[in-house]
Amino acid sequence: MTQLLIGTIVESEYDLAKEVVKEAFLNEEHTDGREHELIGKIRKSLEYNAELEVVAKTERGKILGHAMMSEVMVNSEEQSNVVLALAPVSVLPEYQKKGIGKALIEALEYRAYENGYIGVVVLGHAEYYQKLGYHKASEFGIEPPFDVPDENFMFKYLWDHPTKEIRGIVHYPEAFL
Ligand SMILES: CC(C)(COP(=O)(O)OP(=O)(O)OC[C@H]1O[C@@H](n2cnc3c(N)ncnc32)[C@H](O)[C@@H]1OP(=O)(O)O)[C@@H](O)C(=O)NCCC(=O)NCCS
Repeated sequence: MTQLLIGTIVESEYDLAKEVVKEAFLNEEHTDGREHELIGKIRKSLEYNAELEVVAKTERGKILGHAMMSEVMVNSEEQSNVVLALAPVSVLPEYQKKGIGKALIEALEYRAYENGYIGVVVLGHAEYYQKLGYHKASEFGIEPPFDVPDENFMFKYLWDHPTKEIRGIVHYPEAFL
């Protein structure tokens, strides 16, 4: 494959990115097929951070993948903290398993870390996210607000020595509901 470029999405790429998201999820089992709508909703929300929406493209500008993170709250009786939710992550079917998803996620994690965010939650394939350093969120005392298999709801601290431990129930904003 030619060189892969990862960069912040620009408005002129919104339509193409939407198609990539739609196509990526076409053959997915656990999906409502509305991830392309989700990205539009997140963009309009207060929880959106434009630096945390990236695309992977070829030197000629063909978009092969897209990923975004946005803010969610983790609430308990004692504390309330902002973390990020990684969703969705999409790679065109014919370009999957070539490292593009991993490159997108690592780019977002780096940006998130640089922006001072402490951790990331994700709902998805356990095997895939484990390879990227995510663990069952329940092991950290972080719970989803809905019923999902324990191994599919995961969390990762972005810091080796986090300044605080985050615990509680994740509260997704309106855009996700
Ligand atoms: C899931 C997805 C984003 C992964 O992107 P990708 O570019 O195919 O993945 P990568 O090539 O970066 O994979 C990194 C590693 O995970 C493995 N992997 C990829 N997809 C996997 C899957 N579904 N389950 C388990 N492992 C997987 C790869 O083999 C690779 O392992 P290695 O590092 O040991 O070689 C992509 O397959 C996709 O768009 N799928 C459809 C939409 C979707 O399910 N999105 C995620 C929702 S949580």
